Amino acid sequence: MFIKETSPAVTEESIAQLVQIFYDKARADELIGPLFNENVDDWDHHIAKITDFWSSVVLRSGRYDGRPLPPHLRLPLIGEHFDRWLDLFEQTTLEIWEPDEAAIFIDRARRVADSFEMARASMSGEVKSPRHYGRPLPAGMATK
Ligand code: HEM
Repeated sequence: MFIKETSPAVTEESIAQLVQIFYDKARADELIGPLFNENVDDWDHHIAKITDFWSSVVLRSGRYDGRPLPPHLRLPLIGEHFDRWLDLFEQTTLEIWEPDEAAIFIDRARRVADSFEMARASMSGEVKSPRHYGRPLPAGMATK
C-alpha cells in the first residue's frame, strides 16, 4: 500500500480546521467526551498544541517539541476509547481532504494510538501488538 508523505492540499490552515472539527466531535462524544472535558483545563492551549503536533508530524514544521505519551499514561484509557478516537479522527480527515490526503493522517494517527496502547500495556507488564496500524484503510483510499 502506498501512502503519500504529504500533499499541497495539506496546509497549516487545513490542519487547524482538522483539529478544531475533531475536538467539536470528540468533546460531544458520549464515550470519550468526558475524558477530554474533565482533563483539559485550557482548550485554546490544548487545541494550539495539537495543531502544532500535526503540523510537525505531517508538514515537518518543528512547531511541536513536547512529549505526547505522558498524559495518555495517566488517563484511564481502554481499547474502546482509542477505537472511538480513531473513528472520529478518520471521519474528520475525510470531511476535509480527499482520501489520499486523509490517509496520510489516518496512517500516522493509528501508529500513535497503537504506540500509546502498547506503552500503557507494558507499564502493567503486558505485551500488546499494534491493533490499528496496517488495517485496511477506508474504502477507496490510497491503494495505488
Ligand atoms: C481517547 C483517546 C485520547 C484521549 C482521551 C486523550 C486525551 C488527552 C488529554 C486529556 C491530554 C492532556 C491535555 C492537557 O494537558 O491539557 C492529551 C494530550 C495530547 N494528546 Fe491525547 N488523547 C487521546 C488520544 C490521542 C491520540 C490518538 C493522539 C495522537 C494521534 C493524541 C495526541 C495528544 C498530544 C500530542 C497531546 C499533547 C501532549 C503534550 O505535549 O503535553 N491523543 N490527550
